[in-house]
Amino acid sequence: MRKKIIAGNWKMNKTVADALTLVKGIQAELAGSTEVEVVVCPPFTALKSVGDVLTDSQIKLGCQNMSSENDGAYTGEISHTMLKELFVKYVILGHSERRQYYKETDFWVNKKVKKALETNLRPIVCVGEKLEEREAGNTEKVVEAQVRGSLADITAEQFENVVVAYEPVWAIGTGKTATSEQAQEVHAFIRGIIRDMVGEKAAKGLRIQYGGSMKASNAKELLSQPDIDGGLIGGAALEARSFVDIVKAGL
Ligand code: 13P
Repeated sequence: MRKKIIAGNWKMNKTVADALTLVKGIQAELAGSTEVEVVVCPPFTALKSVGDVLTDSQIKLGCQNMSSENDGAYTGEISHTMLKELFVKYVILGHSERRQYYKETDFWVNKKVKKALETNLRPIVCVGEKLEEREAGNTEKVVEAQVRGSLADITAEQFENVVVAYEPVWAIGTGKTATSEQAQEVHAFIRGIIRDMVGEKAAKGLRIQYGGSMKASNAKELLSQPDIDGGLIGGAALEARSFVDIVKAGL
């Protein structure tokens, strides 16, 4: 049985003060609940404050990007050492917004995934097709290239610490969710690629989240699909009530 994992990607939102209000609201509702793994990914500037609130909590801390390098002259970058010092456990890598606006390629995502795994951080690796790619019938081709490229050379053992997030770009922030059938189809396809890459055991154990306009009203149906093991939540993670309701849908 794969434990469901619901992660909130706060993107470039929340000052430290607002982040504290949000995380305290989430924690007040979810204290002690362990059936679903819950992760919050604030912006870098709020990691320390949010992490301090989460000491001794079941809720885990994640971040939204990481350098592929250890240290040195990389202006504006954040290293694994800096993140681990703040008790970060998960790192979102290869989000479509980073691929689109900052030209992150599978090559770079793969370098970051390897660095994360080498340093005991758990990557949440995002893949997903754009609207024109879906309409052209290229969803599987695009997703397969991203999965194979971003996760190249990762061993079956390392896969135990990997989470994949399927986020169709056309569903992100648009209010258009993939239907549960559309999402399930791609999730099963991704699991099949992983099976081909590293074998049945790792594929069976891999958690694959859905992301893209997930909210309390559609979460239960998405999360009841056999290959959907959680959610990566954007807009609905910015408010404690809606985020907590999604987590509860996963119970
Ligand atoms: P929305 O939930 O706002 O569509 O964003 C999804 C997402 O990009 C999470 O990483």
